[in-house]
Amino acid sequence: MEEAGTVDFLDICKLRQSCRNFSDRPVEHDKLVKCVEAGHFSHSACNAQPWSFIVVENPELVSEIAKCGQQLKQNAFLRTAKAFIVILEEHAVLSPVISCFLDSQYYAKGDLGAAAAYVCLEATTQGLGSCHIGVYDRAGICELLNIPAEKQFGAVIALGYPASDVIRSKNRKPFDDIVRFV
Ligand SMILES: Cc1cc2nc3c(=O)[nH]c(=O)nc-3n(C[C@H](O)[C@H](O)[C@H](O)COP(=O)(O)O)c2cc1C
Repeated sequence: MEEAGTVDFLDICKLRQSCRNFSDRPVEHDKLVKCVEAGHFSHSACNAQPWSFIVVENPELVSEIAKCGQQLKQNAFLRTAKAFIVILEEHAVLSPVISCFLDSQYYAKGDLGAAAAYVCLEATTQGLGSCHIGVYDRAGICELLNIPAEKQFGAVIALGYPASDVIRSKNRKPFDDIVRFV
């Protein structure tokens, strides 16, 4: 366990940015494992952990998934991605009290968003760039990765070493507009 105060989590948050140009450097398998471990430690409603992860590191598959991510002529930069982590939504078993009045998957999207964030933040810690991808050929990815067609996707995350180490300034709503302390 790190001593309190030795890791400034906010610094990691500020360093994380969507990477849209990856270098040629391959990503070490162990770093991808750590990214998934971080997602695995994510919190979830009733600790249901409604997720599974597919790590795509085989170069031919990576390039095929990258093509699936260029639907609607978006995301040409994916040509440079060196790996992908696909997070799938799994059945959530909620506590009996909660499941009496809420559908099993009620919290799943939020849980998957948290897991995706953990993956990206761990990638930052490992010196990797990441980009959460929202536009992709879902059927194509299902076919390539042997995923049942009805499966819900939680996230598709492109990974690699950033081609540049410049950290852009963050474009965010003013802090005072998004928070109310009472
Ligand atoms: C669900 C989701 C889908 C996204 N889809 C894309 C995408 O298809 N292409 C892309 O370049 N960025 C995508 N992004 C990245 C956002 O554009 C980015 O997070 C946002 O502009 C803030 O910038 P930052 O990540 O650099 O802080 C996506 C982010 C999320 C959370």
